[in-house]
Amino acid sequence: MMIREILTYPNPILRKKSHNVVKFDEELHTLLDDMYETMLWHSGVGLAAIQVGLPLNVLIINIPNEDELQDVSELIEAINPKITHKEGIQIFTEGCLSVPGFNEDVKRAQHVVVEYFDRFGTLKTMEAEEFLAVAWQHEMEHLEGHLFIEKLSIIKRKKFEKEWKRKLKEESKKA
Ligand code: CO
Repeated sequence: MMIREILTYPNPILRKKSHNVVKFDEELHTLLDDMYETMLWHSGVGLAAIQVGLPLNVLIINIPNEDELQDVSELIEAINPKITHKEGIQIFTEGCLSVPGFNEDVKRAQHVVVEYFDRFGTLKTMEAEEFLAVAWQHEMEHLEGHLFIEKLSIIKRKKFEKEWKRKLKEESKKA
């Protein structure tokens, strides 16, 4: 397994729309394994393939359980996922490995029903609420070429852009 590079905002590749996986082969399994390693290495709870530069409808989610542990047995690997139902509203403080160090409140559905294929091409359905529902909606958005910062109010977005520019400038000085 290999830790892959995570693309960060404003890399234009992150705005690409992903397309469906056709072959559920070893290459896909390697990608999923690498994505898992990469996500854990960066202490993330979810990752979409586009974040490692591949415009494929592939995402993984592994949110911490009641014991605050990211149990691999609860890892979700979703290929060609679809949200088939959304209900309710919740506000949750989100972050993203492609926008490292930034967190902000985002409004999303409280409950979702999703359909996806696992790594072997078996169709699955799942209902998710609260944090898990947030993770699903956040990762699904990556597949459409969108980031959670696009959901911020104009004022918050402007503040973010200013802070982000400053951060990028400081990082380029260090490099
Ligand atoms: Co993200």
